[in-house]
Amino acid sequence: FSTSPAVAGAIKHVTVIGGGLMGSGIAQVAAATGHNVVMVDQTDDILSKSKAAIQKSLGRVAKKKFADDGERQSSFVADVMGRIQLNTDPVDAAKSTDLVVEAIVENLDVKKKLFSALDEAAPQHTIFASNTSSLPIRDIAESTNRLDRFGGLHFFNPVPMMKLVEVVKIPETSNETFERLVQLGKAMGKTTVDCKDTPGFIVNRLLVPYMMEAVRMLERGDASARDIDTAMKLGAGYPMGPFELADYVGLDTTKFIIDGWSKKYPDVQIFQESPYVNKLVADGKLGKKTGEGFYKYD
Ligand code: CAA
Ligand code: NAD
Repeated sequence: FSTSPAVAGAIKHVTVIGGGLMGSGIAQVAAATGHNVVMVDQTDDILSKSKAAIQKSLGRVAKKKFADDGERQSSFVADVMGRIQLNTDPVDAAKSTDLVVEAIVENLDVKKKLFSALDEAAPQHTIFASNTSSLPIRDIAESTNRLDRFGGLHFFNPVPMMKLVEVVKIPETSNETFERLVQLGKAMGKTTVDCKDTPGFIVNRLLVPYMMEAVRMLERGDASARDIDTAMKLGAGYPMGPFELADYVGLDTTKFIIDGWSKKYPDVQIFQESPYVNKLVADGKLGKKTGEGFYKYD
């Protein structure tokens, strides 16, 4: 494992693969904290939508940061946008970067295929990280020859607002890699927690079964979605109820997580799938991002 100055120094250049809900948020926050960023997605059209989403979100951040100063708001947004480049070729983007953070669809084979191609192209010192919600980092990493430079960096949605990053170590992750991932999390203004490579790490191991239990409560007819959400907000102090949150995360992503776990752990009741969620996803009702899930959105 090389100890060149590039390895010892802080991560300065970040490549984010996937410009959806999470990738665009990660790219935004990395750029807003002074990193040079390349954001990659499959088409120019998707990337221009991701760019517009970042611009909108930065506008909200700028309004808070520089209240009543329109000029400083605009220059903040322009400055951050100026540090984000777009690319539709992940292999090209990986040729010159300190870190790749993958935030593509929650599918093991697709993620492995991507990392295997990147491993051939990326410099020796480049660290690979996955933002997966539920897949074992070790299973993704085995598609590469850089297990010592592989880890999990799990951000939360919406990335500009959520203060946590889970940093995940696999047995082969070197201490240096782990420390550099922790440092990056902190440099991005987040609090980091150390996680083992267990299903759902810390947050999703608790949060996903909780959301699925809420769906099962609805399926049994015990209460309405609206009442369950109101109950959890006012009775437990959560900012969103479980149905609002599932719509916010994306019902496709929620289903990918639970499908993977139910297959792997068929005897664990709280990991089992839900006919209601399956039907919504089959109907293209993926939550807030498509305008309808458990609720309808304008
Ligand atoms: N970008 C920038 N600023 C944002 C933002 C975004 N995407 N979303 C919210 N904000 C800021 C804005 O400043 C906003 O004020 P303006 O509307 O004036 O711009 C302020 O937050 C308040 O936002 P809202 O009034 O829209 O709503 P809110 O007070 O409910 O806060 C929230 C929004 C922060 C998302 C809050 O509802 C919340 O914390 N929800 C829970 C989110 C959560 O649990 N996330 C984890 C999901 S699980 C996960 O991510 C892991 C996984 O692997 C699936
Ligand atoms: P999303 O559907 O919003 O975005 C995924 C993006 O990846 C899409 O723009 C898609 O075009 C792109 N993509 C798919 N395959 C690609 C490939 N081979 N190369 C380049 N781009 C590709 O999904 P998301 O919610 O941003 O989730 C992304 C990852 O982050 C998943 O692993 C998910 O489990 C995880 N995650 C999601 C959340 C959440 O709340 N949604 C939170 C934390 C982690």
